[in-house]
Amino acid sequence: MKIKLYPDPELRQRAAEVDLNDAVKELADEMVRLLTLRGGWGLAAPQVGVSKRLIVVDVDGFFAVLINPSIIGKSKEKQKGIEGCLSLPGIEAEVERAEKVRVRAQKLEGEEVEIEGSGLLSRVLQHEIDHLEGVLFIDHLGEAKRTMLLKEYEKKLKEA
Ligand code: CO
Repeated sequence: MKIKLYPDPELRQRAAEVDLNDAVKELADEMVRLLTLRGGWGLAAPQVGVSKRLIVVDVDGFFAVLINPSIIGKSKEKQKGIEGCLSLPGIEAEVERAEKVRVRAQKLEGEEVEIEGSGLLSRVLQHEIDHLEGVLFIDHLGEAKRTMLLKEYEKKLKEA
C-alpha cells in the first residue's frame, strides 16, 4: 500500500459509499499501520488508491476508523491552523475551518456513531472528509497562495 501523491487523479475523485458487506477491515488495518508508520493525524482511503468512503483519524488520543462519515453540523465559529497532507509532502499552509463539527459515521461492525470534535480533531475530520469529495487542503487557499505553494511542492518533489 502506497500513498498517492498530488497530482494523482485518484485524489480528485468522489469516493463511493462503503457497503458493509465490503471487506474493509483489512483495508482499515493497513491504513492504520501506514498512518502510524508515516506519522500524521489522519488518512483517507482515496489517498491509498481506494475510492471508498473510509477514513482513519488519530488525534491526541482519539483514534477511530470511520465508514461513510458525513458532517451533519458545523459551528459558525472558525479556527485557523497549519495543515499539511501526506499526499502533498513538504508543504503546509494556514487553513480556516469550522471550530467544531458533528460527524455521523459507521464503525467497522456497522454500528452508527456520532462524534463531536473541536479544535484539532474538528480540523482533521474536515480535512479527511474533504478527501472523500476529491478536495485537498490547497483548495481552501487563495489562488496566489496556492500557486506559490504548488511551485514549492513541485520543486521539492523534483529534488526528492
Ligand atoms: Co490529507
